[in-house]
Amino acid sequence: MKKLFLIAFSSGLLFSQAAFAADMPAKAKTCVGCHGVDGNSVVPNFPKLAGQHAQYLEKALKDFRDGFRKDATMQAFAKNLSDKEIKELADYYASQKAK
Ligand code: HEC
Repeated sequence: MKKLFLIAFSSGLLFSQAAFAADMPAKAKTCVGCHGVDGNSVVPNFPKLAGQHAQYLEKALKDFRDGFRKDATMQAFAKNLSDKEIKELADYYASQKAK
């Protein structure tokens, strides 16, 4: 019983890892659900980030974090990001190809 649980658990982990790109910053894993793995959101309600200017993405994230731009969802996801993490996220999405 214990063994079965372990197998189920570790294959679950493998499966979820496969959904992430190798060069993705750690924090981007929380963004996938809405903005897609490479920033090409497939849900019309969520903006595409792929290929956007890095400076714009950086500003948008800082504005959410610091309360200058208001959106309950994004403020919740941006509030614990450091300047360094924001820069990594902005560079990552800016370097992805917009589809
Ligand atoms: C639950 C869904 C959800 C998650 C998770 C989420 N976002 Fe968003 N994001 C949104 C929505 C909705 C908007 C549009 C907000 C608005 O209207 O201002 C948005 C907007 C943005 C924008 C501004 C885009 C633009 O064109 O102005 C950036 C940048 C962004 N998100 C980055 C991120 C990052 C980075 C993460 C992970 C740390 C993340 N988001 C997680 C839903 C989400």
